Amino acid sequence: MALLEVKNLKVDFETTDGVVHAVRDLSYSLEKGGTIAIVGESGSGKTQGAFALLGLLPRNGKASGSVIFDGHEILNLPTRQMNRYRAERIGIIFQDPMTSLNPYLRISRQMTEVLEHHRGMSHSAALAESVRFLDAVRIPDAANRVRMYPHEFSGGMRQRVMIAMALLCQPELLIADEPTTALDVTVQAEIIDLLVDLQEDFGTAIILITHDLGIVAGTCEDTLVMFGGQVMEHRKTLDLFANPQHPYTQGLMAAIPRLDKKVDRLSTVSYEFMVGERQA
Ligand SMILES: Nc1ncnc2c1ncn2[C@@H]1O[C@H](COP(=O)(O)OP(=O)(O)OP(=O)(O)O)[C@@H](O)[C@H]1O
Ligand SMILES: [Mg+2]
Repeated sequence: MALLEVKNLKVDFETTDGVVHAVRDLSYSLEKGGTIAIVGESGSGKTQGAFALLGLLPRNGKASGSVIFDGHEILNLPTRQMNRYRAERIGIIFQDPMTSLNPYLRISRQMTEVLEHHRGMSHSAALAESVRFLDAVRIPDAANRVRMYPHEFSGGMRQRVMIAMALLCQPELLIADEPTTALDVTVQAEIIDLLVDLQEDFGTAIILITHDLGIVAGTCEDTLVMFGGQVMEHRKTLDLFANPQHPYTQGLMAAIPRLDKKVDRLSTVSYEFMVGERQA
């Protein structure tokens, strides 16, 4: 049985200008410990499609369809029941870091509170566990840094803290919404590697949401390409890269810098060489 089965998910927003169909007929499934990437340009419905699963839609939003998690329908559950899933079984890394971190509280407080409340740990056990998770996401000197405030971390480190928090209750499913946007390319690669490692260690299934097809290769088994709230392609990632079918996917693909083609780099080098020669 699949861990997650999303069927015909629709998200509509009531606005003063009429109804916005943000997600239309989204269906996919995810096995235990599996990965799926949801890719698409800004506004294609990636975030709202994920928020709908967790009952996190803005007030004017309405979801319909079906979301079966571990055999149970969870779409539009009452808040209280949904909160249990969210805290204990489904973790989310939000696109906006400040949605999940409180700027006024030390990281230790934000992490221990979750563990004390949801896993019934004593404060000292919760603190030790928090440090263990910060270690796992490779925050150096975690035992001391756990006492810091969010603003005392760099962007990349703050992203790691968010991953640690999302994994704290060892969820079966992690939704990572653009976990690397706003980070520089090297740090992006580190964070993605980290997610892959953590997935192996914890057996967490991952939904990776991104507008960047480049970070999907080598990370996710399946890729779902969205455009205007609809699914354009849903394929094995390797097949998609080898042979993108839809023109929109081909466009996305063309935007990725290729590591296996040296032509551009060589031409730049030779150009500089020529300029150098001319100046000499
Ligand atoms: N509260 C709202 N009221 C009306 N429309 C909304 C609301 N929230 C989101 N939308 C619309 O829903 C659509 C999908 O938005 P969504 O946030 O899912 O995009 P996205 O694919 O995550 O984009 P990005 O890559 O920029 O994060 C957009 O057209 C957006 O304008
Ligand atoms: Mg988004």
